[in-house]
Amino acid sequence: MAKKSKTAFVCQNCGTVHTQWQGKCDGCGEWNTIVEDNPLAGIGGGPGRAPQKGRVVPLTSLDGEIEEAPRIVSRVAELDRVTGGGFVRGSAVLLGGEPGIGKSTLLMQAAAALSRAGHNIVYVSGEEAVAQVRLRAKRLKANETQVQLAAETNVEDILTTLGNMEKRPDLVIIDSIQTMWTDSADSAPGTVTQVRQSAQALIRYAKSTGATVVMVGHVTKEGNIAGPRVVEHMVDAVIQFEGDGSHQYRILRALKNRFGPTDEIGVFEMMQSGLRQVANPSELFLGERADNAPGAAVFGGMEGTRPLLVEIQALVAPTSLGTPRRAVVGWDSSRLSMIIAVLQAHCGVNLGQHDVYLNVAGGYRISEPAADLAVACALISSLAGLALPTDCVYFGEISLSGSIRPVPHAGQRIKEAEKLGFKSAVLPKGSSDVPKRNDESIFAAEKLVDLVVKIAGGKTLSYESDEK
Ligand code: TYD
Ligand code: MG
Repeated sequence: MAKKSKTAFVCQNCGTVHTQWQGKCDGCGEWNTIVEDNPLAGIGGGPGRAPQKGRVVPLTSLDGEIEEAPRIVSRVAELDRVTGGGFVRGSAVLLGGEPGIGKSTLLMQAAAALSRAGHNIVYVSGEEAVAQVRLRAKRLKANETQVQLAAETNVEDILTTLGNMEKRPDLVIIDSIQTMWTDSADSAPGTVTQVRQSAQALIRYAKSTGATVVMVGHVTKEGNIAGPRVVEHMVDAVIQFEGDGSHQYRILRALKNRFGPTDEIGVFEMMQSGLRQVANPSELFLGERADNAPGAAVFGGMEGTRPLLVEIQALVAPTSLGTPRRAVVGWDSSRLSMIIAVLQAHCGVNLGQHDVYLNVAGGYRISEPAADLAVACALISSLAGLALPTDCVYFGEISLSGSIRPVPHAGQRIKEAEKLGFKSAVLPKGSSDVPKRNDESIFAAEKLVDLVVKIAGGKTLSYESDEK
């Protein structure tokens, strides 16, 4: 019998290999993502290859000299903050983001800044024609820099071109990895195999020459780096560019970084003339604040090493539905349910007959549990119909027992709030490095119920029995 061909069926979303075609992928649960593919084609693959004798590699101890990774600093401070102090030479970076969010803009601006600093930069666009890229460069005032441009999608051609350059490039930008294809894979462009092998070839180029390669990857609505999820583990850093269409600002976040922290964010604002760096994001997120509305509380948050103040808005309204609505934008909805349960169990605040809407102002997303306290205060304030003091910040984690637990960096959070004109703070009892004051400006809360009393005063918050 003839030997079976090497064809397999590969999910284009997660890369799972199936033996036959099926409608739904077992790996990621996506529908219609499986296509016929040849995962073994190309470099290193194929059963036909004769086994070779390997060479002996030296083994060494963990203890020894360490060299600081050499970096190229882009001088776009918000970008350098996220990469951990600049792009590491010889590393491969994946920049993900939804289409239209500004990835090409960011990279063009970084390329221009690096080029001005004397670095040799190559920008390869697989999506746009040379004229289009030039148009953008002109808009960004990057057209007079020495950035070298090519519109090309074949990886071998790109690598040959790079190898032929007089001076080895310091940074190569590939926009985007989904448009690249390599001769070594015989599947259609855009398939997982093509993307993976193209990325492999480019990463190999980075490692062998010491040039940094930045690859753009498009992201699906769910936030997965579409197709190139398989690329995520191959690269040294994965950076995500986020934002929503209705707001002008964009957040750059490191999801993975072998050479730096992953908890830093970079904040930009999309302007007519490109991306502007926002050095003080709190001002931006608090910019449109209407004062004296019940249900608004300012959260003193932290993003990496940087404090960041955002407004949390809650609306609690009586409902006629059997199951009240809970809608959350910018925060974890299960965390909201937990706080509602704690308010009910330990503070006598019953929201069972109320719809609850929670919104983090400006489309920002909070991931810290320290926001619990601000959320609880916003909820209480909205339910009581009493506005919170406008010059007060809130932070602290709430435990299921109704006590308020300290969170790190209390001093830094307070300092940032003071810088922006806030005069008081509500924080967990036992927080470290809190400035000592004699006045009442800092309220250290131990139990959530104390705060309910402080905010609502004598007002009864259980509407269950005394519905109006
Ligand atoms: P782009 O960088 O092309 O996005 P991506 O590469 O992530 O797909 O930018 C897309 C949007 O940015 C586009 O809708 C127009 C807007 N934009 C500006 O507002 N100002 C500018 O200077 C530029 C270049 C783009
Ligand atoms: Mg683009």
